[in-house]
Amino acid sequence: MEFQVVDKKLADIQADIEIIFVIEKNLNHDWVKDKKELELLGFEGKSEEVALLPEKRRIYVGVDSLEHDEIRIAAAKTIKALQNKKFQSAKVGVYIQNCPVTNIKAFVEGVLLGKYSFDKYKKEPKKHAIKTIYIANEEYSNKPFTIENAKKSVIEAEKLAQTVNFVRDLVNTPPNEIYPAKLAEIAQDVAKKYELECNVLDEEDLAKEGMEAMLAVGRASVNKPRLIHLSYIPANKKATVVFVGKGLTYDSGGLSLKPSDYMVTMKADKSGACAAIGIIEAAKRLELPVEVHAILGAAENMVGGNAYKPDDIIKAKNGKTIEVLNTDAEGRLVLADALCYAQEKIKDIDYIFDIATLTGACVVALGEYTIGVMGENSDLKASILDAAKASGELAAELPFNRYLPKLLESKQADIANISSSRYGGAITAALFLKEFIEEKNIKKWVHLDIAGPAYVQKEWGYNPYGASGAGVRLAIKWLQKQFVFNKKHP
Ligand code: BES
Ligand code: ZN
Ligand code: ZN
Repeated sequence: MEFQVVDKKLADIQADIEIIFVIEKNLNHDWVKDKKELELLGFEGKSEEVALLPEKRRIYVGVDSLEHDEIRIAAAKTIKALQNKKFQSAKVGVYIQNCPVTNIKAFVEGVLLGKYSFDKYKKEPKKHAIKTIYIANEEYSNKPFTIENAKKSVIEAEKLAQTVNFVRDLVNTPPNEIYPAKLAEIAQDVAKKYELECNVLDEEDLAKEGMEAMLAVGRASVNKPRLIHLSYIPANKKATVVFVGKGLTYDSGGLSLKPSDYMVTMKADKSGACAAIGIIEAAKRLELPVEVHAILGAAENMVGGNAYKPDDIIKAKNGKTIEVLNTDAEGRLVLADALCYAQEKIKDIDYIFDIATLTGACVVALGEYTIGVMGENSDLKASILDAAKASGELAAELPFNRYLPKLLESKQADIANISSSRYGGAITAALFLKEFIEEKNIKKWVHLDIAGPAYVQKEWGYNPYGASGAGVRLAIKWLQKQFVFNKKHP
């Protein structure tokens, strides 16, 4: 499907169907040409409400406001309503709130993200007849924008949405197909396609690096762990930013085995690593002036005669000893070593983020749709929340305090891998990771727990059943806000 920005008014564009947004239930706007028919249908123009009038060749979609995520959701609802229909082309006007290009991007993202479905394993893929969507040089309330900026925005939104959909595909792909070595191959393919550097460490390399925690987690699986390091180093770099991703291609819980119902969906425990691949891919495709590193800790948490056990004491790469009390708290062990590796090997780090489906507790705290943001730097966390809002992703802070770290104390090792309390599990997991952040990097670090939104077993907004690609749009918006946009850009 392609988007074409054309220098014509809506009425002068030939298309099979026109897309019209009804704002704040106001059916009296002059671009709502079918008021009577809409009233007959009981269409009120509520947010997410759709009315397709095939004989009029018009489709109406309600939006509560011109806020960008309303537009994204409305665009997704539109494209879904046109699924399995025979319309081959559509036309739409431009709906500006403040910034002239924000909603053009949001519309394109909404269409492409909303159109996505994972049907690689289906005999009958979903059908979309629409080949072209024309964006007219017509703003509903005559606000100005330039065709040139509109075209640039379309391309940017296409690159971002394509990358998010690629991440969704990776996360949705089952664990019999994607295991650590396969994830490494995929990363190498991405590196080749987009001219990134890629270095892969196998079990022997991991042993040489002293990454006993990551090796312990992966030991019982026939599919051995890999550490994958992708880098994008542009000539005009303004900073160095590292994304460390949890890449559990499967999390059975290990000997602290998950109940069957909880094990299903654990193919998505690689979502952080897949998001990091997407972030570096999008950074490159958008030519962001930032050196980006993606460090992926890929392992499979399984049971077996040589499985790591509750009671084991293992040593992480930085020499700290960890008493394993629950083998299902494995993500933090993999991330501990991956974070140490990143800080040892990458010079002059300005920011270091880890992104992980780390805890069920985060989902309990914030619900399924929201990313948990944790760290020691309030300004940095605030900038992340700000970027989340501008990207359309939901994020909220979970605060540290002086009492929670005590819950991770171990009698016989430097730290335990689970808290002694059943409460506050998302935060204590983050505090565990903090133990593996060097003092000089503490204020440069933020932990993103994507356990909720990474994989949801129902459709929500422009997200499908299954993987959403959580974290990618947030991170790219953050990079753009820090290093590309000027202060005035929203
Ligand atoms: N991968 C899970 C966390 C998770 C849960 C992600 C639900 C997505 C949805 C993680 O490895 C895990 O099992 N965490 C345990 C930690 C506990 C043993 C302290 C959890 O959340 O129950
Ligand atoms: Zn687990
Ligand atoms: Zn896990």
